[in-house]
Amino acid sequence: MPLILGIESSCDETSAAVVKDGSEVKSNIIASQIAKHAEYGGVVPELAAREHLTAIKHVVAEALSSSGTTMKDMDSIAVTMGPGLMPALLIGVNFAKGLAASNKLPIIGVDHFIAHIYGTFLDTDINILRDPSIYPLLALVVSGGHSALVLVTADGKARMIGTTIDDAAGEAFDKAAKLLGLGYPGGPVIEKTAKEGNPSKYHFPRSLTGATGKGLDEKNLFNFSFSGVKTSLLYHCKKLGGAENMDVQTMHDTVASYQEAIVDVLCMKAFDAAKHFGAKSLVLAGGVACNNPLRERLEKTIPDKIKLFLAAKKYCTDNAAMVAGLAYHFHRQNKFHKLDFDPYARLPEITEIPFLM
Ligand code: KG4
Ligand code: ZN
Repeated sequence: MPLILGIESSCDETSAAVVKDGSEVKSNIIASQIAKHAEYGGVVPELAAREHLTAIKHVVAEALSSSGTTMKDMDSIAVTMGPGLMPALLIGVNFAKGLAASNKLPIIGVDHFIAHIYGTFLDTDINILRDPSIYPLLALVVSGGHSALVLVTADGKARMIGTTIDDAAGEAFDKAAKLLGLGYPGGPVIEKTAKEGNPSKYHFPRSLTGATGKGLDEKNLFNFSFSGVKTSLLYHCKKLGGAENMDVQTMHDTVASYQEAIVDVLCMKAFDAAKHFGAKSLVLAGGVACNNPLRERLEKTIPDKIKLFLAAKKYCTDNAAMVAGLAYHFHRQNKFHKLDFDPYARLPEITEIPFLM
């Protein structure tokens, strides 16, 4: 019955959570720095590190108190070890190491990207992960740092079958919002603004989908590209005399059409890959998975024979519950880290998924 304290500090959220047996979330505290970074239109790594340093002790204390636990109840400590912003990761990792050493607890470093996939199964019966009928499982991970398709087979092997060749989907939302003067982060404000607009009013490109009629290069079959849609938005704004001079309805229609292009691409690519690899289930995870039009489109259009797993919105954006949840699967196999492990900034090659082993 392991009870695990998880810590997350890879980007701009300081988070701590207490999770039992890999799924029962007892607490999940998130201190967001969004307001601090908003004036810069994106995350400033050094500023993020300073904010994590100020917040982490309080966030951990709150995760313990709100779950009615103390450090004595913990069986291990889990922490995001990468990928992410190195100055930010170092705060969480070093804090977790200190806690583990002083409380004589084992420590587990987990991968943030895999944790996003795992977040989908928090607060659910995780025995589903042992059901062979959901494999091959295809995960669409869309966040500020990633747009990727990961294929997981029933033997626990996994591989990245597609990724972005330029910007991530979340970045496409964030950069567009910056360009349009809508603020940071872009996803939520774009979703809100798009509600008032007509998604068919303007056409934005659907890169690497074959929509132009040109065949797709084999190597890009399941890759994404979001820099074209962003550039197209820039020209669209210039043509209309600049974002600041757009009337309200034009702004709403622009945003709705832009969002529609991104949702179209994500669904097309996911369904194409699912068909190609005979996927039996599709997982949608990462911050962009909060997007309602994307969730609704997947729900409405997914082929009957594919089971859809949508992460609860509270577990889509960065949080420590997904970290503590994933760590359970290392804990039950007695796979712990030595205290001298290092964080990493870039996503390593994915070969297996720990929750299946
Ligand atoms: O997973 P996450 O919290 O951090 C990373 O690991 O990157 O994802 C943050 C990203 C941001 O780019 C943000 O704009 C996007 O998720 N996002 C959304 C929505 N909420 C957050 N994108 C589209 N629609 C949303 N409702
Ligand atoms: Zn993330």
